Amino acid sequence: MVPLHAACVWLSLAPLLVLGVPPIWTQPEQVHLSYAGAPGSMVVTWTTFNKTESKVEYGLLGGRLFEMSAKGDATLFVDSGEERRKMFIHRVTLTGLKPAANYVYHCGSDEGWSDVFLFTALNDSSSFSPRFALYGDLGNENPQSLARLQKETQLGMYDAILHIGDFAYDMDEDNARIGDEFMRQIQSIAAYVPYMTCPGNHESAYNFSNYRNRFSMPGQTESLWYSWNLGSAHIISLSTEVYFYLEFGQELLFKQYEWLRNDLEEANRPENRAVRPWIITMGHRPMYCSDDDQDDCTKFDSYVRLGRNDTKPPAPGLEDLFYRYGVDVELWAHEHTYERLWPVYGDKVYNGSRERPYVNPKAPVHIITGSAGCRERTDKFNPNPKEWSAFRSTDYGYSRMQVVNATHLYLEQVSDDQYGKVIDSIWVVKEKHGFSAWL
Ligand SMILES: [Fe+2]
Repeated sequence: MVPLHAACVWLSLAPLLVLGVPPIWTQPEQVHLSYAGAPGSMVVTWTTFNKTESKVEYGLLGGRLFEMSAKGDATLFVDSGEERRKMFIHRVTLTGLKPAANYVYHCGSDEGWSDVFLFTALNDSSSFSPRFALYGDLGNENPQSLARLQKETQLGMYDAILHIGDFAYDMDEDNARIGDEFMRQIQSIAAYVPYMTCPGNHESAYNFSNYRNRFSMPGQTESLWYSWNLGSAHIISLSTEVYFYLEFGQELLFKQYEWLRNDLEEANRPENRAVRPWIITMGHRPMYCSDDDQDDCTKFDSYVRLGRNDTKPPAPGLEDLFYRYGVDVELWAHEHTYERLWPVYGDKVYNGSRERPYVNPKAPVHIITGSAGCRERTDKFNPNPKEWSAFRSTDYGYSRMQVVNATHLYLEQVSDDQYGKVIDSIWVVKEKHGFSAWL
């Protein structure tokens, strides 16, 4: 017979005996915003580990708390790692938001609510001068710029963030727990302003499934390529990875190229370009760079710039396309450095003039900003850059951009190593946009 005290010990251990059964996780986490593309809209995305409803309760700041509510859907995401971890990604699109108004919200369901967050609905006027933070290559480990970005975002310095590929290093690692942790890390930025993304090579595992499932960009491509408008800018986000991971479908490369051509054609219709004269692209791997690591951009015949001729049919590159349609500014990352280029096309510099290179430039302006901080540290430069390299830095940091009006766009580089010092800045001034501006 079991003595009484032994029975008591067994009973006190009972909760431990059910270890191995996953806990019930209905608590929302990894909250982030994105712009759905239509004026007055915003998408709230978050994660739970058990299935719940998807609700956002919100209201104007200073008004009655949570007086409005919206419902959405959750999709089951099964990571392809050994553990086949499951999570539910919730998406709710808010519509009818008042431009420039401040909203308070929380998300979740009656089984658990998030903290309370704030956001400003995007101003859809083309005379609005949006301010962006730009960077790529931000990881879970060594995220040097993160604290500064968190504080500046919460201070209201940015209307949107552009994360130009390479997240977490890598989102799929440790059965996607690194992805979870990274999405928790950026919540303090991304729950407050739209966090707009494009895929990088670090997202490639299982055909980019963590990237495609966790983000909610406009359009129907699972966030791979899309465009949107803000202020006087038309912003195009694209996947440079379609040039490198042919095993996931060579047709993606051609599909994206076709889409880019149509999107640029549409953006260049005179009535559209008159309202949104700036065309800005963001893609992960640059066409040009002066780093010393044998990446695509270090080669004269880079795939992204000139295409590939080992595919059937040969795959066109992006430089001619962007030049033909008068793309003004091209934002890139991947190199863990900052580099500003003189206006360049076909490996040649086309400055506006000797004294004022960025006033009426005769070719697109390229910026590479991939030094936000990750476990791979920063990259080294080639000691002898080509003549299109105007300024470069290996400091950790990120860029800021303001599309001021139809003619003026401002760019600057922040060094995290130098405590937030602005180490480079330019004004791009264009009295004319489109292909004819090059002539
Ligand atoms: Fe990369």
